[in-house]
Amino acid sequence: MVFAMSHFLTHALALHSLDAVDAGSDVFRAVWRSPPGTILLYAALIAHMVLALFKLYRRRSLRMPLWEVFQIGLGLAIPFWLAVHVVATRGLNEVYDVKDIYPLQFAWVWAEGAGRQTVMLLLVWIHGCIGLHFWLRIQPWYHNVWPLALVLAALLPGFALAGFTVGGREVQAIMAGDPTWLERATAAGNWPSKDEWDWVYRNERGFLWLFSGLIVVALGARLIRRRRERLAGKVQIRYLDGTTTSIEPGMTVLEGSRAAGIPHASVCGGRGRCSTCRIRVGAGAEHLPPPADDEAKVLKRIGTADYVRLACQIRPVADLEITPLLPAMAGPSASQTQVNPGAGAERQIAVLFADIRAFTRMAEGRLPFDVVFILNQYFKAMGSAIEGAGGRVDKFIGDGIMALFGIDTEPADACRQALVAAQAMSFELDNLNKEIQAELTEPLKVGIGLHVGPVIVGEMGHRQATSVTAIGDAVNVASRLEVATKEFGAQLLVSERLARLAKVSLDGFKKQDITIRGRQRPLGVYIIEDAKALPILGERETKPRRGTFRFARLFRSNDTHQIVR
Ligand code: FES
Repeated sequence: MVFAMSHFLTHALALHSLDAVDAGSDVFRAVWRSPPGTILLYAALIAHMVLALFKLYRRRSLRMPLWEVFQIGLGLAIPFWLAVHVVATRGLNEVYDVKDIYPLQFAWVWAEGAGRQTVMLLLVWIHGCIGLHFWLRIQPWYHNVWPLALVLAALLPGFALAGFTVGGREVQAIMAGDPTWLERATAAGNWPSKDEWDWVYRNERGFLWLFSGLIVVALGARLIRRRRERLAGKVQIRYLDGTTTSIEPGMTVLEGSRAAGIPHASVCGGRGRCSTCRIRVGAGAEHLPPPADDEAKVLKRIGTADYVRLACQIRPVADLEITPLLPAMAGPSASQTQVNPGAGAERQIAVLFADIRAFTRMAEGRLPFDVVFILNQYFKAMGSAIEGAGGRVDKFIGDGIMALFGIDTEPADACRQALVAAQAMSFELDNLNKEIQAELTEPLKVGIGLHVGPVIVGEMGHRQATSVTAIGDAVNVASRLEVATKEFGAQLLVSERLARLAKVSLDGFKKQDITIRGRQRPLGVYIIEDAKALPILGERETKPRRGTFRFARLFRSNDTHQIVR
């Protein structure tokens, strides 16, 4: 990227004059064609390509976030566009002592077609910028500088292309005014003959065959390894909500989640830097090897206990029970969240409690197997609604659910996420009731309580039963609101404080002050018969399917309409 930047800056000098770009290119060549510059540049290029191909081989699953697909696609395309440029400049200079000075480059590139040059420049730049962005975005300081970085990222190629256009046109004008200019300049620059151009294209083709061959080798080696691992049998990964997925030994847990379509946070894309994929490992953890140096460093940074591991780094060889510790939509700020806050930290957290109405009556007279089946379907549906909204299922208690919002977001975002989750749960419940109506004598109903307030967040429990959870008045109040939904015959009770912090108007719903046991002052609550009637805070997929219902993630605390899917 440093090379690309200096190259683009040199292009941009043509906006001043051809002399300026020529002088700039002397400096550029003096740096990058010196022995240290050459070693640095080509070692970086080769290391980058080899590591990228090795990573392609190591991937057990090709399912990945869109940005990564784009990034890898651009990376693989670059050599096909760039090879001829490198051979025709550096290669000709080294082998045939051609002076690849800028005015001649402009004349040549202009004749070949400026479009190719433009595409090449943009491919390199966008690929590099995506890489830098996803590398740096977990750094706390990056949040403050990224708007400026974005401006620079747009300006630099803009100036480079403008310089290229101005320089190219200027050379065209010179050639129009002096028909002998090109001949004289090519002679002075020792510009290549037809044979030498054949040499350029031969070498370009040779390099591209080699590169294509390496891609085929990497993909072929993946296939062979896959066949071998398949023969070795599968490993079961069990998630907190009862979901189980089978992965091939050698796959990371994160790759397993992706392959099974289970949302899992991974801000750095599985590079072992961000820690957002962190999981608590339960039964089966004894078969895992201890963390390697890189993983250990990240775990130390976030202060974990020894049963916390990075899902992108562990490759289970035996069945394993896991609990993701951050919501699937955790953002870069979560990479700084300490897992083990020791004595705990006080935070404003939105708390959601939900419970199935008349569950005991429904369970009566059923086979235990049926009850477990219905409950697991219910937990899965509600869990995905909560996580889809950005929350985190804290625990399942009998047929009840406790969820937290705001572990890694601002309180205003957390409150809106909690409302989005309640609405999503209501839609999901309707879907579930339709899907399993043959198993039910009457549709499942839920009561949901939502409140926000300061709570102590910390790791609590003992040994394997330890997890990050919250205690405090807000938790008790949310639980009481859920119980009070029975009294009001409503699906949802939302504390006035939560609605106010979320900056969501619930004026159309009945409001009442209620007394909460243990609190001196009454609490204002909105009584919402059906949570589907809440104002739409997120976009809903038009055809909800089980497990794919997703509400959009609220992006900014001061803009309730700014939505990112
Ligand atoms: S995905 Fe970033 S550390 Fe695992």
